[in-house]
Amino acid sequence: MENIIISGMNPLNGSVELQGSKNSALPILAAAAAVDGISIIHNCPDLSDVDAAMKILDFIGCKTKREGHTVIVDSSGANASRIPERLMKEMRSSILFLGALLARFGCGCVSAPGGCEIGLRPIDLHLSAFRSMGAVIEDNGGLLECSAPLGLKGAALSLAFPSVGATENIMLASLGADGETVITNAAREPEIIDLARFLSSCGAEIIGAGESVIRIKGKAKLHGCEHRIIPDRIVASTYIACAASAGGKIAVKGVDCAHLSPVIPAFEAAGCIIHQSEKELTVKAPKKISRIKSLRTMPYPGFPTDSQAIVTAMLARSEGTSVIIEKIFENRFRHVPELIKMGADIRVEDGCVAVIEGVERLSGARVGACDLRGGCALAVAALGAEGETVIENIHHIDRGCESLESRLRELGADAKRIKTN
Ligand code: EPZ
Repeated sequence: MENIIISGMNPLNGSVELQGSKNSALPILAAAAAVDGISIIHNCPDLSDVDAAMKILDFIGCKTKREGHTVIVDSSGANASRIPERLMKEMRSSILFLGALLARFGCGCVSAPGGCEIGLRPIDLHLSAFRSMGAVIEDNGGLLECSAPLGLKGAALSLAFPSVGATENIMLASLGADGETVITNAAREPEIIDLARFLSSCGAEIIGAGESVIRIKGKAKLHGCEHRIIPDRIVASTYIACAASAGGKIAVKGVDCAHLSPVIPAFEAAGCIIHQSEKELTVKAPKKISRIKSLRTMPYPGFPTDSQAIVTAMLARSEGTSVIIEKIFENRFRHVPELIKMGADIRVEDGCVAVIEGVERLSGARVGACDLRGGCALAVAALGAEGETVIENIHHIDRGCESLESRLRELGADAKRIKTN
């Protein structure tokens, strides 16, 4: 077990290199199982969730290897269409392997996925889409046995909600379907575009990724390719929140500023001065953080749920009252009780509205990460708190944020990781 310890009130200065996107890397690693050959995936972040995806690839007969931030997947030997529960439980994105297995083998056997406990996180949209494409799915005590006795068929699918995972899973399964699959009300996140770019480089025919209607022609001959994962827009927003909370001025290098357009107005409303250039963003912290009257999480291009916790933490020390409405997940304010231990004045109403009364100061405390972004939020708060904060359960942070404490230390924070008994 390890903890991160942060002594706050040290302004951040300097620059930080942004990691590749976890939420792009994971579907692309699953996609590597749907094609036949060698995929070379650059800018792949070094995270426990990526390790979990590589373990699944190895289990189903692919060969994987990491060389720095490049992951190489040779899927030519893939031969298993079953993923054991222990691997499924390691992360949420394990469910994307079902679409990949259906495309590659016409069948797949998986159990429910694990991942951050931020809500119910059903997979009904994934499964009903597969059924519409001709899959037969039997739930045998939590074991989902999927087959397509007559083969998968392209279908017109309309999602009740633009689910990121369902869009990705359908894109993958439709690679193995006869004819065209049309996804209406598809998710439009940059990670969807990245997955489509990867698959197109592998030979797939996909039109419309990044828009609400995506068309995929199935049965193209798919091979491996070389691909560079997009920068992680959520981690970029985490560094911005860190700078806002600690004070100072930092540059985040390697960003795609266009992907940050849903979050930049919120940080500017809080008083940050942000300059964007092609691949770099600088942020100067305000002397005093301003309140944000109202902020609502939404599917892209709305304000991302994944940046909600860090903004909540940043606003804990703002001037005035801010209101944050979480519209995507039912249980995404689990960091709030931890922030309250540090002196924050936040009340959660109906599970989905946080009313933040900004306080003059936060104090270091012993707190625990409950999920990935909530854990990062505790680091944001700790950077602006007086005294020492000990963050426990940091395996949640390690799922998605590469060496958070080292990067913060390079920026001048007093942050370290220690082993515990
Ligand atoms: C992806 O999760 C991300 N994970 C999440 O990031 C992110 O918070 C989320 O999209 C929303 O942007 C990855 O990309 C690996 P959804 P996903 O399906 O695909 C409901 C992080 O911290 N829903 O878009 O699981 C669901 O319950 C993680 O990096 C159904 O009802 O999200 C939720 O309310 C956490 N039925 C909403 O849709 C379904 O079948 C959005 O979920 C699927 C989803």
